[in-house]
Amino acid sequence: MSAGERDVEAEVATASIGREGRRAALALFRELVAPYKWLVVGMVATLLCDIVGMLYIPTELAALVNTAIAARDTDALVGHGVSMLVAAVVGSGGCIASYYLASKFAANVGRDLRVRVYEKSLDLAHSDFEQFGTGSMITRTLSDANVVQQMLLMGFIMMGPVPVTCVVAILLAFGVDPVMGRLLVAVTLVILVIFGLAVWRSAPIFVMLQSFIDRMNVRLREYITGVRVIRAFGRESRERERLDSTFESYADRAIRVNLVFSTCDCATFFLMNVVESTILWVGADRVGAHAMQIGSISALIEYAMLIMFFMMMAQFAILQMPRGLACLSRAAQVLSATPVILDPEVPAELPSGDDAPAEVARFDHVSFRFGDADEDTLHNLDFALRRGEVTAVIGNTGSGKSTIAKMLLRFHDATGGRLLFLGRDVRDVSQHELRDRISYVPQRAWLFSGTIAQNLRDGDTKATDERLWHALDVAQASFVHELPDGLDGRVSQGGTNFSGGQRQRLAIARALVRKADLYVFDDSFSALDFKTDAALRHALSGELEGAATLLIAQRVSTIRDADQIVVLDEGRLAGVGKHDELVRTCPTYRAIVESQQMEGGEADGE
Ligand SMILES: Nc1ncnc2c1ncn2[C@@H]1O[C@H](COP(=O)(O)OP(=O)(O)OP(=O)(O)O)[C@@H](O)[C@H]1O
Ligand SMILES: [Mg+2]
Repeated sequence: MSAGERDVEAEVATASIGREGRRAALALFRELVAPYKWLVVGMVATLLCDIVGMLYIPTELAALVNTAIAARDTDALVGHGVSMLVAAVVGSGGCIASYYLASKFAANVGRDLRVRVYEKSLDLAHSDFEQFGTGSMITRTLSDANVVQQMLLMGFIMMGPVPVTCVVAILLAFGVDPVMGRLLVAVTLVILVIFGLAVWRSAPIFVMLQSFIDRMNVRLREYITGVRVIRAFGRESRERERLDSTFESYADRAIRVNLVFSTCDCATFFLMNVVESTILWVGADRVGAHAMQIGSISALIEYAMLIMFFMMMAQFAILQMPRGLACLSRAAQVLSATPVILDPEVPAELPSGDDAPAEVARFDHVSFRFGDADEDTLHNLDFALRRGEVTAVIGNTGSGKSTIAKMLLRFHDATGGRLLFLGRDVRDVSQHELRDRISYVPQRAWLFSGTIAQNLRDGDTKATDERLWHALDVAQASFVHELPDGLDGRVSQGGTNFSGGQRQRLAIARALVRKADLYVFDDSFSALDFKTDAALRHALSGELEGAATLLIAQRVSTIRDADQIVVLDEGRLAGVGKHDELVRTCPTYRAIVESQQMEGGEADGE
């Protein structure tokens, strides 16, 4: 199964969340709402003003028709008119205020959720991220939080008025005439049952529709990010078919949902007319029996219409609820994940200055296995990185070189043995302090969008321009001098407006800007030509005298002068020593040297 398909499966699986997920979602919901109790109280109060004002107008109108107009009483007429005006002002004021408070509430809760998921994602290790999938993490942080926000807003604005309207309207109707009150209760119950049935019918299709939206997202994202590969391999038609089939399945479901909705719409309008006729019929009878006055009929019709209108709105809002709950439960999953890499409760201090030992890092019989792997990636590694020395790591691709670098930064924890940094087990030190002491050039040089200076200052925010230029010169990034904007030259996301080699040199400069005890260069010279590689190593040797250097490389020419070379063979130590010694004693190293000499003698000879 490809990663994309796995993503799709995961997304579809989350569409129906189960009891456990629902419980987690509701618990998270309570937590999110707790700080806004008073806002909710304000929302309910203003909503009450809105509804009572809205229902009071037809009541007053009926009174106006019944008494004032019939008796031609001008004073009463004015009195009722003023009451209606006040009701209109209170009602619309309440409406505006309740919308405002509800938007504020939903936006605040949405923001809190987004921030919580984002902050948690910063605590998660790479392997935790893989458990959710990077794409899904983005959806959870952005779109899921939006859905929850929408759900809250719609839920309050569209569902909130239903119970209030029903209770207030029925009470008012009973005030007019008990028979009409009972009629309104019956009408309300009948509509409730019909709308309940419609929701019950369409909810599952709606949930399915949601999973299809997720599926389309995943497919499109895969298509857009992989568009160059698709074109290069001429797979356009196959990809188009895959996309088309996803879109068609979505369209099928959407049509089914729309059918249910349009049937509901028609039924509602039919129902409105039936209810109106019934009220007129029964009302006429009651007026005839002198149980109520004729003007009250219009008020009763208005009550019934308002009840039906709000119920229809609520019906749409209810359908959003399963989606909102699913999004909440997905957020709850992230929030409840325990990161595999945790800081100790009482972190140990790392020695600094004169106290810092000469041995910066030591792999003490370290083994490492990835969570989902059957066997160890690194086996029983035992070597030290010392201050002022360059330790090189060489080995075939996939032999575990980058994993060594990542373990030093504690992106992974040893599964056997221990890794010491400045004499302390890395698990006893806070991640922040550990990483503060290490400067790292990753294998895939990654730059952030902004300017060159901003990127270099990731190494040290307080670095002066001179220091940045110095770092660039050491990193042989002289091309920056030729840029029209120099240090303010624009960097696009990932650094894609620079060549691979330029990116690598900028990443090296960024690492040099930071003063650290250990510098790690993960295959950072591979995209450089031999001449630049040599010049860079020469410049570096003076620069990094006071620190330990770990140089991971593929080319023998890059590492032959290192103080210590660690030869890796499928995660095992094949040899540790200097170049000449290893050529004599280590068959794995000799094989690497010989294969590279065969490829290009000039490489070794420079
Ligand atoms: N996240 C991961 N989950 C499982 N296995 C992984 C993961 N990352 C790497 N590996 C495996 O660990 C082994 C070592 O990977 P590593 O990236 O350290 O190799 P490398 O020596 O740096 O290779 P290269 O020279 O290509 O950069 C590989 O066999 C790889 O398949
Ligand atoms: Mg690597």
